[in-house]
Amino acid sequence: MWWVGHHMPDDTFQCHVYLIEHGDRSVLVDPGGYLTFKHVYKKVQEVVPFSNIRYFLCQHQDPDITGSLRLIDLLPDVRRDAMIVTHWRAMQLIKHYDPALPFWNIDEHNWQLDLGGGRILKFIFTPYLHFPAAFCTFDALSGILFSSDIFGGFTANWTLFARDQSHIENIRPFHEHYMPSREILVHGLTKLEAYPIKMIAPQHGSIIPEHLIDFMINELKQTDCGLYALARDSTDIHRLSFLNKALKDITNVVVTHRDFWDIANELITILRKTIPVASAEFYTYAHNHNNECLCLKPETRYRGIITAPPAYYEPMSTLNKRSWLSQNKVCYKKIPIPQERIPDAKKTGEFCLLIPLFPPNRELIQAIAVLSLEHDVNMTFESEKIVEQIGEVLAVAVERECILHVLDMERRKFYEQAIRDPLTGLHNRLYMEETLKPFLHMHDRNEKDGIVAIMSDIDHFKKINDSYGHSAGDKVLKQVASAMTGCIRTSDLAIRYGGEEFAVFLIGQSTREGVFVAEKIRGEISQMKFEGVTNEHKITLSCGVASRKRKEPLGEFIQRADAALYQAKSTSRNKVCCEDDTPL
Ligand SMILES: [Fe+2]
Ligand SMILES: [Fe+2]
Repeated sequence: MWWVGHHMPDDTFQCHVYLIEHGDRSVLVDPGGYLTFKHVYKKVQEVVPFSNIRYFLCQHQDPDITGSLRLIDLLPDVRRDAMIVTHWRAMQLIKHYDPALPFWNIDEHNWQLDLGGGRILKFIFTPYLHFPAAFCTFDALSGILFSSDIFGGFTANWTLFARDQSHIENIRPFHEHYMPSREILVHGLTKLEAYPIKMIAPQHGSIIPEHLIDFMINELKQTDCGLYALARDSTDIHRLSFLNKALKDITNVVVTHRDFWDIANELITILRKTIPVASAEFYTYAHNHNNECLCLKPETRYRGIITAPPAYYEPMSTLNKRSWLSQNKVCYKKIPIPQERIPDAKKTGEFCLLIPLFPPNRELIQAIAVLSLEHDVNMTFESEKIVEQIGEVLAVAVERECILHVLDMERRKFYEQAIRDPLTGLHNRLYMEETLKPFLHMHDRNEKDGIVAIMSDIDHFKKINDSYGHSAGDKVLKQVASAMTGCIRTSDLAIRYGGEEFAVFLIGQSTREGVFVAEKIRGEISQMKFEGVTNEHKITLSCGVASRKRKEPLGEFIQRADAALYQAKSTSRNKVCCEDDTPL
């Protein structure tokens, strides 16, 4: 095989022509355009007489391949039986040059050409890479793949052979722009891989020697193609490649992170490559029964906190995507930093970007992102695209965070209901057992961390219910509970233990202090006036106090305080008793 192309100085897009030397059945692969053909013609003749060329193989119809066909018609030494070998779809276009040579359709010849002498060229269909009927040619005898535009590259400093793996940096941008999609490219590459290729001879760029073939194929399989779908006014391949990478990074953020803190921080890092974002915060309606507005901001590690919606949010929340775009044309709005954030604004710039977040399948704006800018910025095509993509990702992430927040609120509400007595608001026995556990352990380890229990009971409570009704009885229970809470520290624990029975646990206190507190509660109750109960009817409380012995189970400890209470009840009532063997 011979390279019979012509190097055009200052052209980063070299177009190559190859000659398969095979006697009078030699093949000129992708013959070339007008610009280079006189050089190609000369070079061929340095190897074989031009009349040895029987086949002009056109792997697709581009002018850099077929532009020379009319020149060939004019040559004196073209053999009579020479043919243009191509696919019928390419033929439909090449015929417009009105070439004199006849066509030989590969699809009518079982996709192979027998050159005689045991040399067969195999044609491999690689549709849409980059022509709908593009194909490659494998010469089994030499192991060379003539890959046409696949494996092509842009080369600023051209070399005939790729020197090392760095040549992928020439190949990748060409494929990102000329090939339609990664899926289609992988489809073509997978077909090519099935052949025992020893060398790849592409129509552009450099020849790829055997040791680089696997590397190039694997790299190309990871390449995102179809970048021109992103292009608007920009045809700068590096800018488009940067944009493509940024968009891919954005999608990866939601795939690899679950925590909203991570997602928000990663997205801001990506944004900062094009937009000077100082900080970001998000607002969304919770869609719970109060339809509260949640704010997620860095100060609270992006945990949702209930807040008043910002003034600009309310009018936005009635817009759908179409109405937003008809008003604003783009997927964001630059506004002066709102008044309430002026202290922050002094630290940063004066503007922020407002991005409406539209969750999939929902019509109306679901949430908004507010990006404070370090300084004013002119939005480019790239930054707009990035903001648009980030908006889509954030919409899902904010919605997910909001759902989690609402579930968490519900869970807390049910937990509160489970651990509190609904009438008095005091905690119940379930909560008592759970909460006391660590304090019991602490006391077991250290005598000084004592716990005192005050068990108390409203005297003659049944009479109150009988005389004034249950509603009055309930009010008495509530008032007693409230007085009890008022007499203890927040670190102590007041429990509604049973009907009219209460328990108070004082943490880190002695029996003496327990009796003091019990006396305070008892004294207060005896002085109180109760709603719905006549002044003549005195309501009083009896209390029993006990200190926990180390290692004593909670049940036994309470029982001892209960025994002291029984003692108070069985003597005069309205009194505090201490368990006999507990020294004061
Ligand atoms: Fe092409
Ligand atoms: Fe080409």
